[in-house]
Amino acid sequence: MTQIFAHRGAAGTHPENTMVSFYEAYRVGADGIELDVQLSKDGEVVVIHDELLDRTTNGKGNVKDHMWKDLQSLDAGYKFQKQFARATIPNLEEVLAWIQGTNLILNIELKNGVYPYRGLEEKVIALVRTYSMESRVILSSFNHYSLVYAYRIAPEIETAPLYRDGLYMPWVYATSIGAKAIHPSIHTAPDAIVAASMKEGVAVRPYTINNEDKMRHLFEIGISAFITDFPERAVKLRNTI
Ligand code: G3P
Ligand code: CA
Repeated sequence: MTQIFAHRGAAGTHPENTMVSFYEAYRVGADGIELDVQLSKDGEVVVIHDELLDRTTNGKGNVKDHMWKDLQSLDAGYKFQKQFARATIPNLEEVLAWIQGTNLILNIELKNGVYPYRGLEEKVIALVRTYSMESRVILSSFNHYSLVYAYRIAPEIETAPLYRDGLYMPWVYATSIGAKAIHPSIHTAPDAIVAASMKEGVAVRPYTINNEDKMRHLFEIGISAFITDFPERAVKLRNTI
């Protein structure tokens, strides 16, 4: 059965990368949650998509230039809808502590494409191990060197390269770096690539699919999973197929 991964939680209806968004994805029946991590100035693994605070919070400047205690006081929901005005930036530990008690898969995207975030892989892996989540975590990144490094220090945790532009025979590439899946932009995942990858045992989980016709097509071809901002829409549709 095609799995549904909630992009930054239920980001289409709730403030992205906040606990309220993750709770909503769980409530509507998603199989997994995708989130993004970066490091604060004092080395906390924080859950936020942009390097800058400005788009999703009432803070300003780079995440990496703020201490965790200051990031905790920011409002990560007020720009979205008034009812989410008290949503805050979680750290990865808070998410792991909660998700451990669910059956959800956790896709952690290492956002180390702009800033190198020295030690990010070690910190994330240590937290995953602390919460015994190795078998339910997938590490993804556009920075494939980071995935190679993560695989070297934690081969028991699945890795999956993210990419926006086409890759030649991506299943061969994925296998060569120890990855068991690919996470392509939907625009670079034609049916033939999906079929060839899955035939070779490499799971395919494209992003970001919000359109019902596209969702239906992916269910029909039996793709491994897809990543969506609207998990409730996807779950309801899957129930009809
Ligand atoms: O993991 C899929 C997707 O989240 C990658 O792109 O920019 O939304 O983090 P982005
Ligand atoms: Ca992401």
